[in-house]
Amino acid sequence: MAPPVFVDEKGGDSFPSKLTKQVVVCSIIAAFGGLMFGYDIGISGGVTSMDSFLLKFFPVVYEKKHRAKEDNYCKYDNQMLQLFTSSLYLAAVVCSFFASFCCKKFGRKRTMQMAAAFFFVGVILNAAAVNLPMLIVGRLCLGAGVGFGNQAVPLFISEIAPARYRGGLNICFQMLITVGILIANLVNYFTSKMLTYGWRISLGGAAFPAIFLGLGSLLIVETPTSLIERGNTDEGLRVLKKIRGVEDVQEEYTAIFRATEAAKKIENPFKNLLKRSSIPQLFCGTMLQVFQQFTGINVIMFYAPVLFQTIGLGSDASLLSAVVTGSVNSGSTLVAIFGVDRFGRRALLIEAAIQMLVSQCITGVILASQLGSTNAISKLYAYIVMALICVFVSGFAWSWGPLGWLIPSEIFPLETRTAGFFFAVSMNMICTFIIAQAFLTMLCHMRSGIFFFFAAWIVVMGCFAKFLLPETKGVPIDEMNERVWKKHWFWHRFFTDEEGDQSCVEKELKLQVTKDEV
Ligand code: BGC
Repeated sequence: MAPPVFVDEKGGDSFPSKLTKQVVVCSIIAAFGGLMFGYDIGISGGVTSMDSFLLKFFPVVYEKKHRAKEDNYCKYDNQMLQLFTSSLYLAAVVCSFFASFCCKKFGRKRTMQMAAAFFFVGVILNAAAVNLPMLIVGRLCLGAGVGFGNQAVPLFISEIAPARYRGGLNICFQMLITVGILIANLVNYFTSKMLTYGWRISLGGAAFPAIFLGLGSLLIVETPTSLIERGNTDEGLRVLKKIRGVEDVQEEYTAIFRATEAAKKIENPFKNLLKRSSIPQLFCGTMLQVFQQFTGINVIMFYAPVLFQTIGLGSDASLLSAVVTGSVNSGSTLVAIFGVDRFGRRALLIEAAIQMLVSQCITGVILASQLGSTNAISKLYAYIVMALICVFVSGFAWSWGPLGWLIPSEIFPLETRTAGFFFAVSMNMICTFIIAQAFLTMLCHMRSGIFFFFAAWIVVMGCFAKFLLPETKGVPIDEMNERVWKKHWFWHRFFTDEEGDQSCVEKELKLQVTKDEV
């Protein structure tokens, strides 16, 4: 018989396991990949508003910024400046494709080490940049690091975590993204006071997370799934016992083994993704990332200093406000760590959509009525806008932020997991690129209407979470098809017994396991 797995009321599964020190330590070390990513997100906004940086690489923007009567909404609108921020994400899209192969062939751990190496080279090029091409090539290497890291880390954590703690542990990745953003904001705050080389220190600081991940990854285990998938079954069993802290891992081992056998029957995981039975996971996994980006979060993360200057806070106050939003971001992520395996994924997503919608709309109304082309809005309104932005960021931080990474890493069956997750990661990077590249121009043309643009997206994503997204809380990662997708009111229809359908492969394997056990 197939191993029995029971989902209890709190959403736990009955595969015997403890929350071991190994799992916690490995998850935290892997999550340093998030620190690399977050530091990068947070550093660009501050650096691109530093005079010494603008003067060296973007003199046109520098002049525009200091022209007295430049339009409030348009003073930073420059394609090259936006390319500095967004080039990283282009490289990350391309590289996460290769990273998905590396994850499968060399394992999750090796892929993380490659991420750290790319990132380190990028940091050196950036901190030492003498011209724009060097700066951009450095950004591309950082992008490669982010692509490899973001592909490997969430998968790694989802695979080593016991089902009942998977959500919380996986969100350590997002937690370190937010810590990275916060540290970057603080670094910028101090380096912006250094006249000529502050930006070099800001960009060079990214070396620390790369070193932590690179050295830390020497200490962690490979996931049992990846070991078994690559034929190291004994080692996989040994690691499984070690990370679960119990001897009795046979049921879980059988479930993983069954999943890897099903995966081996699939010659090309990318081709398999085109099958009908892959549509539900592919659609939900990639749309979650599209929606995550179209909350408009990165407008705040990349351009908070620019945005705060636009509404009339001085350049110091602007960086300080970025620190405030950064702290709210990290603090609120803790809510997700403790709430996600208790309240479930969907409850957090729906609540936050409402919260973000309200704050976007009020911000839009205030800016529409108070901020003209050349005036600054009153201090009172500027602080109200800042408070609203904090409400928005906290909603994002306990929902669409972490769950945009968690859910796509847990919903695919093993045979399409790395390929499917690649689509989710690259969709994130493509949308981040679009927002980073277009935002300053959109702000210039749509003005305060930009907040209503994002509000409309939030309405759509709220409906998506309510009606189409299934709940995955507490379900063992290799049991998702059976327990989640095939039982969903809408998606179940994609699982038919057509020839070659994955559900047939699964059935056949189950019969095989049953026969073996009898
Ligand atoms: C997103 C980033 C965003 C960050 C903010 C992440 O989950 O992928 O694009 O900047 O959250 O905390």
